[in-house]
Amino acid sequence: MHKPLYLTILAGAALLAGCQRPVPAAQDGSELWLAAGRPYEEILASVQTSVDPTLPAEGFHIYDADGARHIDGGSAAGLRYGVYALQRAEVLGQAGPGLELQEAPRYALRLLNHWDNLDDTVERGYAGESMWEWTADEIPEARIRQYGELCASIGINGSVLNNVNANPAILDAEHIARVAKIAAILREYGIKTYLSIKWTSPIALSGLKSGDPLDPKVRKWWKDKAAEIYAAIPDFGGFLVKANSEGQAGPQDYGRTHADGANMLGEALAPYGGIVMWRAFVYSPTSPDRANQAVEEFLPLDGQFADNVIVQIKNGPIDFQPREPFSPLFGKLKDTQMMMEFQITQEYLGFSNHLAYHGTTWEECLDADTYRDGPGSTVAGTVTAIAGVANTGQDPNFCGYVFAQANWYAYGRLAWDPELGADQIADEWIRQTFLRPEGMSDKAFSAKFVAPVRDILMASREAVVNYEMPLGLHHLFGGTHYGPMPWERLGRPDWTPAYYHKADPDGIGFDRTRKGSDNVDQYNEPLNGQFNDPATCPEELLLWFHHLPWDYKLKSGRTLWEEICLHYDAGVRQVEDFRATWARLEPYVAPALFAETAAKLEIQQHDAEWWRDACVGYFQVFSERPLPQEVRPLGMPFDSLRFTILQSDRLGMPVHDADRRPVLLDVRNLRRP
Ligand code: GCU
Repeated sequence: MHKPLYLTILAGAALLAGCQRPVPAAQDGSELWLAAGRPYEEILASVQTSVDPTLPAEGFHIYDADGARHIDGGSAAGLRYGVYALQRAEVLGQAGPGLELQEAPRYALRLLNHWDNLDDTVERGYAGESMWEWTADEIPEARIRQYGELCASIGINGSVLNNVNANPAILDAEHIARVAKIAAILREYGIKTYLSIKWTSPIALSGLKSGDPLDPKVRKWWKDKAAEIYAAIPDFGGFLVKANSEGQAGPQDYGRTHADGANMLGEALAPYGGIVMWRAFVYSPTSPDRANQAVEEFLPLDGQFADNVIVQIKNGPIDFQPREPFSPLFGKLKDTQMMMEFQITQEYLGFSNHLAYHGTTWEECLDADTYRDGPGSTVAGTVTAIAGVANTGQDPNFCGYVFAQANWYAYGRLAWDPELGADQIADEWIRQTFLRPEGMSDKAFSAKFVAPVRDILMASREAVVNYEMPLGLHHLFGGTHYGPMPWERLGRPDWTPAYYHKADPDGIGFDRTRKGSDNVDQYNEPLNGQFNDPATCPEELLLWFHHLPWDYKLKSGRTLWEEICLHYDAGVRQVEDFRATWARLEPYVAPALFAETAAKLEIQQHDAEWWRDACVGYFQVFSERPLPQEVRPLGMPFDSLRFTILQSDRLGMPVHDADRRPVLLDVRNLRRP
């Protein structure tokens, strides 16, 4: 990393003057977590490398021998991962003489899923338009190379380029040629290219009359299409499929099953070694509890999927909420390959405005015991592959917020090794992302900057849970998925908050016990019994599984109503603390990153207050109880909020005013078109 000359001079002058004040480095976040390390080529040139076929293909071995540092890799990919591992070790101060590091990834498939559309918008994207620049004349080669480096440095080896709500045009000749150009670059970084497909592609692109997976014409169409793709991209990875989900067509429209559909595509890709990732994000309005529907649809198909089909399952049974229990499918499917789907983009956690580190979210899920094969059957052990919905866009820093980069990083590291701790990953990310100021020792930097920032990261997701939806509440969002709208009842019931919180004068929560939807029995013993009884159900999931009276006593001795209020207020206080901590860190961080984060934390605090006021105010209508004494009075009266919607910009980002408060429009004043 070359420092601008003026900074070196400044630092030197400060030292000469005997002044120990650190001089923050100049950086803007556009190098992400590769900011602090030596360049890849420089490290490669400084070590002895060799391919050792006895190592796992993507594994590496770093060691010192004969006065030299060696990196052996199981393949070119393994070597590349070894170089990046050494880079990381150097930044972390762990690369001294005698270094000995041998690693291989836990999962063979470690993918990013981009929800990018061919018109360059990004579904749930909060960092500008599509980084693939589909509508431009040329592909953005420099940007794709930087992406390749970033992915390779954390072990990501696959990329699905387009949205699961796919446009059939992705499979026309023009787009295949364009995808081939992108794939040729990504290949250099060990990344395979995959595409999302639309089920009705044969109809849309070639005028076929049917999409029936057992129709020979349909089967031939997909075989021919596979041949065309592989002629252009010989190492093409395969298809990701969203079918019979949220209005997307699928095999069920023709009286066939998910397995019929997936296996038909699997057959088309098998001759080339391609795979099908078939999403289990399905829910039809026929079952009274959306949380039950994936198991209801997929358990009967267990064992019917072809060898090159993997069922891709979101971490929770609903939809990437700030907290959900793990999807019960992970503990139920025994003869089906399963792939985890995490969401890196913060669709429900404040977009790229809120600091919400997902290392802890994903650690909680991966470590959860499904009891599928007895105690110790963690989610991490029941899945064989992993995907993360990307948070990248055209913004110079890729993610729209330097702290959103931490989630991309954490995803890659956990995909490589799901046993890693969220705290260790946070520590690594901070040290690689933020340059140590001139004139500051590593020890001082660790104590004064790394430690407090790590504390913020580690507390951040729970803070969001607290101010958005504590104690197992979920999906209290309006249509934008950004702000609170617990009062919303219009539209499809299982898309409305009222369906999920079920607040009424008697209490609050979704009854998923044996007396309710019996979702608890989709979990194995002993979880089903634990979840079924409010006394043994973890309190953080209480209202996920139970509808309880407002005066129900929690372990603290306080009532449910009091605890709900206290959690919302605690979430706001946590963000206030993050702001206060960050304000003290100004001497150690580049002005651009300091200002960006300070501004975003201010937005986050105001949004958190909005969440607290809206949710506590709304639930109070039913509880008819006063706020506990420790809870500060609500800032915005509920009556002024219940008719408001958030103003968003062209790309769907929320608009905040000059004071960084959300701009809420009164729907009663909005003119109808
Ligand atoms: C959510 C999200 C959609 C997305 C869907 C999916 O419902 O809001 O934008 O398409 O998940 O994962 O398919």
